[in-house]
Amino acid sequence: MFTTALSQRGKTEQGDLPLDLFTAIETLKKELNAVILAHYYQEPDIQDIADFIGDSLQLAKAAANTNADVIVFAGVHFMAETAKILNPDKMVLLPDLNAGCSLADSCPPEAFAAFKAAHPDHLVVSYINCSADIKAMSDIICTSSNAVKIVQQIPKDQPIIFAPDRNLGRYVMEKTGRHLVLWEGSCVVHETFSEKKIVQLKIAHPQAEAIAHPECETSVLRHASFIGSTAALLKYCEQSSSQEFIVATEPGIIHQMQKRAPHKRFIPAPPLNNCACNECPFMRLNTLEKLYWAMKNRAPEITLPENMREAALRPIQRMLEMSA
Ligand code: 13P
Ligand code: SF4
Repeated sequence: MFTTALSQRGKTEQGDLPLDLFTAIETLKKELNAVILAHYYQEPDIQDIADFIGDSLQLAKAAANTNADVIVFAGVHFMAETAKILNPDKMVLLPDLNAGCSLADSCPPEAFAAFKAAHPDHLVVSYINCSADIKAMSDIICTSSNAVKIVQQIPKDQPIIFAPDRNLGRYVMEKTGRHLVLWEGSCVVHETFSEKKIVQLKIAHPQAEAIAHPECETSVLRHASFIGSTAALLKYCEQSSSQEFIVATEPGIIHQMQKRAPHKRFIPAPPLNNCACNECPFMRLNTLEKLYWAMKNRAPEITLPENMREAALRPIQRMLEMSA
């Protein structure tokens, strides 16, 4: 793990990079009383230096419980924003402010307000992959690991809007037997997987189990023997007796899978084209260098208008209560 960091010496627009970024980041962590939270889709060096690695729910819980003064969020904007919503008095840093999310972007606030107004009696359950504006318009937030559990707790006669991910929404409908009014959003990464190539891989590796994130399309999910959040997929790989897996989610997770089950083989599910579009372009904007500069400069920092923060906090708190 240290090879990449040790070779990262050189000048940037911001100044000289230290020879050993890992040590420099550890020093800054102590100076700032900072905690580094990283999502499983981050590059391996970032995962290795993080204090806590998790899926969206685990990271939201870690952010809610930290005693650190500064939260360095190695993930995408909506994740860092959630940490800020939960911690108004702490500094929340995101290494690259452009680390957005196509799914969050697929739900613009004005259009969603109109959609909500057209369904006045509906409760709004929103996937955490959305902006603070959308959270502020929601009744309950969910993540991929608790969406089914949360919808199951809502009275059966209560109509529900589910936003913004249509694929997770369809999966929840199938699991709960409930009808949900879906916002038609999606993730560019999870919609890139090719059903045909997964089937070809299964033929080439007959012992391999296909596993998938519920943001994938139904055509991909139907080939998976296990569907779950990144944390659930990781746990499944560790516990399953299978030795080979075809992994239909962002391949950053394979770093942890390989660490936890070094003797097993993990094959990333291929995208439709011969591109690297199964890698989240937003998650990958964060680098170890940018993480160092964010800590050194205490920027870019996540800020939010207080009224929006308060409105967005309520549905997140409901989620935390309902998934305790
Ligand atoms: P998880 O809830 O599994 O962390 O998913 C987050 C995400 O962005 C998937 O694309
Ligand atoms: Fe958003 Fe998809 Fe990237 Fe997850 S993988 S952060 S849903 S664009």
